[in-house]
Amino acid sequence: MDVDDINSITVLGAGNMGHGIAEVAALAGYTVNLRDINEEFVQKGYDQIEWSLNKLAEKDRISDDDAEAALDRVTTFVDAGESVADADVVIEAVPEKMDIKKEVYEAIDEHAPEHTIFATNTSSLSITELSEVTDRPKQFCGMHFFNPPVRMQLVEVISGEHTADETMDTIEALAEQMDKTPVRVRKDSPGFIVNRILVPLMNEAAWMVQNDYATVAEVDSTAKYGLGHPMGSFELADQVGIDVGVHVLEYLHEVLGDAYRPCPLLEEKVEEGELGKKTGTGFYEYEDGDGVQIP
Ligand code: 3HC
Repeated sequence: MDVDDINSITVLGAGNMGHGIAEVAALAGYTVNLRDINEEFVQKGYDQIEWSLNKLAEKDRISDDDAEAALDRVTTFVDAGESVADADVVIEAVPEKMDIKKEVYEAIDEHAPEHTIFATNTSSLSITELSEVTDRPKQFCGMHFFNPPVRMQLVEVISGEHTADETMDTIEALAEQMDKTPVRVRKDSPGFIVNRILVPLMNEAAWMVQNDYATVAEVDSTAKYGLGHPMGSFELADQVGIDVGVHVLEYLHEVLGDAYRPCPLLEEKVEEGELGKKTGTGFYEYEDGDGVQIP
């Protein structure tokens, strides 16, 4: 399929990444079906798109008319089969667990048209393994956005072992249509490029605090003022979701070995349900899902 033949995009999962990807697709002019497992989750994702579009308009990054038109292009769904019935591309952004993702692909494969490309927003899992539960492994690749999708320029486009070159070309061109900068990842390896670098960095930052070498605020200051990162490692963990970081680390640990063992400090946060911005508390506290307060 050529990129010009893409009209309708289904985003599976309305969480942190899913709603942001749906927003990016709607802003690029696509008809978007946003699906999650119940009304409450999908409505929350829709509300977050509305919040974000209003924020972008408030800051003159887009016009009020563009914000309104983008929101009008988004329809919410709970039924997975219905949500993919007219999709040209499905972008899946459900929780970062192999079993959950496989279940989703098994549920939608027979309902999506034959030409539909499946693109997973997985942060680290094997594209090849996921593609093999579908009847369309050639039309399957990774399309990995960064948080918050509406502000981050990069999209990793990842080839699985079975991915056709045509699929890679189309998804790369789609990322460009969305005003993003795609980078092609040629080998399907755990964490791809960014998370192979980023998540161990977050883990090392956590070990520094775990072992009392420095405080959260001190480690974050070094990343910001010494390395020039826009956010400290703990601020970033809160931004992407501490649970997401831990899921990636667990997978890297399982596949690549002990160097990637998740730091208990991160695991404890997940056990306590303090996942970062999305729960209002992580390493920092947040008001209205935003605004950094005291460490
Ligand atoms: N939509 C619209 N507005 C948003 C937003 C969103 N999704 N998220 C935050 N904002 C708003 C804030 O509310 C804030 O508004 P306010 O000023 O009224 O309080 C405003 O944006 C802040 O934007 P600014 O441009 O003023 O601030 P910055 O220049 O600091 O930019 C940033 C914000 C782009 C998020 C920047 O801090 C940044 O680049 N941070 C690093 C993010 C990053 O590295 N992401 C990648 C993570 S890795 C990943 O996602 C992979 C995964 O697999 C783990």
